[in-house]
Amino acid sequence: MRWLGIIRIVVILFTLLSTWYFAETILATKWKGGNIGSIFGRSLEIKAVAQKIHKKCGNEKDCPDKYFAFKIISGAASVVGPTICLEDRILMSSVKNNIGRGLNIALVNASTGELIKTGHYDMYSGDVKDALKFFEDIKDGTLVFLASYDDPATKLNDEARNLLASFGSTYAKKVGFRDSWTFVGGKGLKHKSPFEQLIKNDKETNKYDGWPEVLEMEGCIPQRMD
Ligand SMILES: *[C@@H]1O[C@H](CO)[C@@H](O)[C@H](O)[C@H]1NC(C)=O
Repeated sequence: MRWLGIIRIVVILFTLLSTWYFAETILATKWKGGNIGSIFGRSLEIKAVAQKIHKKCGNEKDCPDKYFAFKIISGAASVVGPTICLEDRILMSSVKNNIGRGLNIALVNASTGELIKTGHYDMYSGDVKDALKFFEDIKDGTLVFLASYDDPATKLNDEARNLLASFGSTYAKKVGFRDSWTFVGGKGLKHKSPFEQLIKNDKETNKYDGWPEVLEMEGCIPQRMD
C-alpha cells in the first residue's frame, strides 16, 4: 500500500516534470522562431525536402527536363472511375466529375502540355458517331490520353479502331468487351506508341467477377519541339 502510494507520486511528478519540460522546449523554440527570417528559412527547407520526396502525379520516377510526367489509372470494374494525371494536374477523375463508362480521353497540346479538352464516350449503349467526331477533330501536335472504364469496346467499329490505331495504338484493333485499357498516343505520330497496356476480360484470369484488374501506367513524354 505504501509502496503503491510512493510509486504513484513518482509517476505524477515525472508526468508534471516532463510536461513542463516539453512546454519549455516548445516555448523556447517559439521564442527563437520569433525571428521571422528563421521561420521562413525553415519552411523553405521543409518545402525543399517535400519536393524531393513528391514526384509529379505520385510517380515512381521523376522526368527529365522537357518531358511531361503522366499517370493513367483505368477504371475498376464498373465501380471506381479512371484517373488521368499530367504534370501533377488531374485532367480527368470522378472528383472532377468529367469521366464516364466507356472511353475517357484527354487531349493535350504536345508543345505546351496544356489541356485542350476531355471527352467520355459510352461504348456500351452510346453512339460511336460522337466518339468518331471527337477523334476526327483532333489536330496534329495533340497528345491523346485514354483510359477505359467498364466497357470500352462494344460499340467501337472499324472506323473508330483505325483512327485510334493512327494515333499510335496497337491494341485498338483487338480491344473487346470489358477489357482494361490505357493508352497515350498522338495525332501525327509516325510509330506505335510505347505507352499502352491492355488486359483482356477473361473469366479464368479476371480479378473482379466480370472484369480484369485495374491498369496503372506512368511515364515521361517528350515535349514536342518545333
Ligand atoms: C499548341 O500551342 C501552341 C502555342 O500556343 C500553338 O501554336 C499550337 O497551335 C497548339 N497546338 C495544338 C494542337 O493545339
